[in-house]
Amino acid sequence: MLKNQASHSPTTDLSVSSRCVRVCQNRTCKKQGSAKVLAAFKASVAPGVTVAGTGCLGQCGNGPMVLVLPARVWYSGVRPSQVSLVVEQHLLGGE
Ligand code: FES
Repeated sequence: MLKNQASHSPTTDLSVSSRCVRVCQNRTCKKQGSAKVLAAFKASVAPGVTVAGTGCLGQCGNGPMVLVLPARVWYSGVRPSQVSLVVEQHLLGGE
């Protein structure tokens, strides 16, 4: 799993109330297991963070792709077993 934060992001918003996790559910990511990744996020969502499936994020082949907004932090090749790490370290821990 790779993490990439957009360099053009002006700030990292750590307020939990406005953050959302988008998990690509389009064809290529779905073949790579994104439905299970979405289910894992929904099962372990952090307070105040919304989770939703989305259409293609334009990163086909690197999936399952996950985008955390509004900071525009990307995760590629996410496995369901890695979701708890993202939730604990990023969404709850602020990393
Ligand atoms: S299918 Fe997921 S990024 Fe395109």
